[in-house]
Amino acid sequence: MIKIENLSRSFEQVRALDDFSVEIKRGELFGLIGPNGAGKSTLMKCLIGLLKPDKGEILIDGENAVENSISVKKRIGYAPEDPVLYDYLTGMEFLEFITDLRKVPREISGEKIKSLLQNFGLEGKANQLIADYSHGMKQKISLAAALIAEPDILLLDEPTNALDPESIFWFKNHLQQLCESGVTIIFSSHILDTVEKICDRVGIIHRGKMVACDTIKALRRKFGGNVSLEDIFMHLISK
Ligand SMILES: Nc1ncnc2c1ncn2[C@@H]1O[C@H](COP(=O)(O)OP(=O)(O)OP(=O)(O)O)[C@@H](O)[C@H]1O
Ligand SMILES: [Mg+2]
Repeated sequence: MIKIENLSRSFEQVRALDDFSVEIKRGELFGLIGPNGAGKSTLMKCLIGLLKPDKGEILIDGENAVENSISVKKRIGYAPEDPVLYDYLTGMEFLEFITDLRKVPREISGEKIKSLLQNFGLEGKANQLIADYSHGMKQKISLAAALIAEPDILLLDEPTNALDPESIFWFKNHLQQLCESGVTIIFSSHILDTVEKICDRVGIIHRGKMVACDTIKALRRKFGGNVSLEDIFMHLISK
């Protein structure tokens, strides 16, 4: 359903994405890992239409995501690595604003907001200004905003970095349930244990190129059997 073909994007001398291709099926939880500066966030920004690729194509169910960026954006929930929030709104006001923006009917938005706040352990903070939230709370509200309109594609850029263990536990299970119901997820992370545990397939990106892409099982077979994702990662990026 997501087909990325020969995607390239440079920033002056830096080739952030270099002929990058991948296909991700509907309902897949796809892990994207790679060193700092490898191109993970650039890829997500191209997918959501925040950056225009220099070359290549992004097709979502056959629809060109660059040419039809508005219709594609409606289907995507995006949680950037640095959450974009409004400090002068409370958590509740921010989620109400997002549900209005994404046209979630008022009859159901209240329940949705309540249950997400509860699942992320933020119900006691709903009426506090986002400016006064901790780092982890800001990440939680950004994730809640990405999930709230029940998009069929989720782009999650290092979503669990600042979360506490209880929230990570809930969030990992929730993502797996979403995939079972047909949601497609791209999940970038430096937490390789989490990626190894929850992702169906993993892509390893290095200097803008995909250097390996397969299921954990198949990657293990390729790299000698009894190896961890960390071993595979270290081997590939040391080249
Ligand atoms: N707006 C920009 N202007 C100039 N260079 C940029 C810009 N955005 C990204 N880059 C460069 O593109 C490369 C890829 O960056 P990107 O943010 O995609 O990496 P990343 O894999 O997400 O890294 P990290 O793990 O640190 O988040 C880096 O060399 C970065 O410096
Ligand atoms: Mg990044």
